[in-house]
Amino acid sequence: MPTTNAENNGPWDAKLQQFHGGQDWAYLDNFVEDFSVTTNAFGMPESGKLASIESVQHSHHYPPADQEPAKTSLARFLWPAEFEVERDRLILGNGASELIDLVIRMAPAGTWKPGPFHTQYKEYERSARNNNFKLLPAESTDKATVACLVNPCNPTGDYLDLPVLKQWIEDNVLPGGYALVDESMQPWHSPEFRDHSLISQRDYVEKLFREKGISVFVMHSWTKLWCCTGLRLGSVICPTAEHMRAIKKLQVPWSVNTVALAFLNAVVSDDAYLHKTWQMIPVWRRQTIDRLSELFPEWKFHGRSFLSWIWVDTGSEDAAQKAIDLARAAGVPVRSGRPGYSLPTFIRLAVREPEKVDALIGALKAMC
Ligand SMILES: Cc1ncc(COP(=O)(O)O)c(C=O)c1O
Repeated sequence: MPTTNAENNGPWDAKLQQFHGGQDWAYLDNFVEDFSVTTNAFGMPESGKLASIESVQHSHHYPPADQEPAKTSLARFLWPAEFEVERDRLILGNGASELIDLVIRMAPAGTWKPGPFHTQYKEYERSARNNNFKLLPAESTDKATVACLVNPCNPTGDYLDLPVLKQWIEDNVLPGGYALVDESMQPWHSPEFRDHSLISQRDYVEKLFREKGISVFVMHSWTKLWCCTGLRLGSVICPTAEHMRAIKKLQVPWSVNTVALAFLNAVVSDDAYLHKTWQMIPVWRRQTIDRLSELFPEWKFHGRSFLSWIWVDTGSEDAAQKAIDLARAAGVPVRSGRPGYSLPTFIRLAVREPEKVDALIGALKAMC
């Protein structure tokens, strides 16, 4: 078994890497469920698992250099009617993380700012720092050369509806700059998620580029919705096909492997999986909040009802640490707000089925 040090950042090299959750499970002899990640409670879709296992037998060949047919299948999922027109703006990556870094590397030099929330997913900032951007705080009223907004925001659960999101882009990005909008968690919204997303805003994105030179990129990590963090799958929708080609030129060849492409190609047409996700996640989320509120009336629960996680302010560093330690000891690790977000009174919990929540609640009862 690998070694870890729970006092610091576990397997992460705190001096060089950005901390993320999702590593504890491998160090726990009594592991039950991972509450520290924002993945889908339904686990890997069987359709994708079977397709990826099947694809291993072709893995002595290189993956397709054009990412097909998976790329067109994802385009059909995103734009069921217009996928043939839209797919030239789309490119897949080895997780969204690869694409976040690529887009920020090719952005015009200057200033960088995050979205308007208390905190947000940190890879954007890490990449901006590595690429020598001058970092502006979220509350700065200055427009930035590159502005990155996570919507819905992991971990805070904040969400801007389309009109507010568009206004934020116009108020915060300099002419000629880049807006990166991370909609990884947006497809959880509902079966109508596309209508509420920048995916459906081709005309707006084109106009912004034509009139102000602002390039809007829509980033998706697919490793949460389809629960495949180990496979690494992401995509970015570029403002134009030329932007897509600029990314393609920078991207290392075959960055998305055969197994991940096969998985994606299958899951995009697994309607039953998404329908049960849209149906059950809000119910389980509500139930978990109700159960925790009974035990801990002082805790505050944040985030939109459709999200795959709950952002909890325990109000006390001591309480948060106790919850983290008890959950870990019971084999149900949760995410601390301390490393990465520097918010030590907060914890983040994945939404999970009630039987798994029993184990978490059982562990946390020792605090009462
Ligand atoms: C909002 C958001 N964007 C992007 C990512 C990166 O995901 P990946 O590189 O696994 O696709 C994550 C992972 O937690 C995330 O929460």
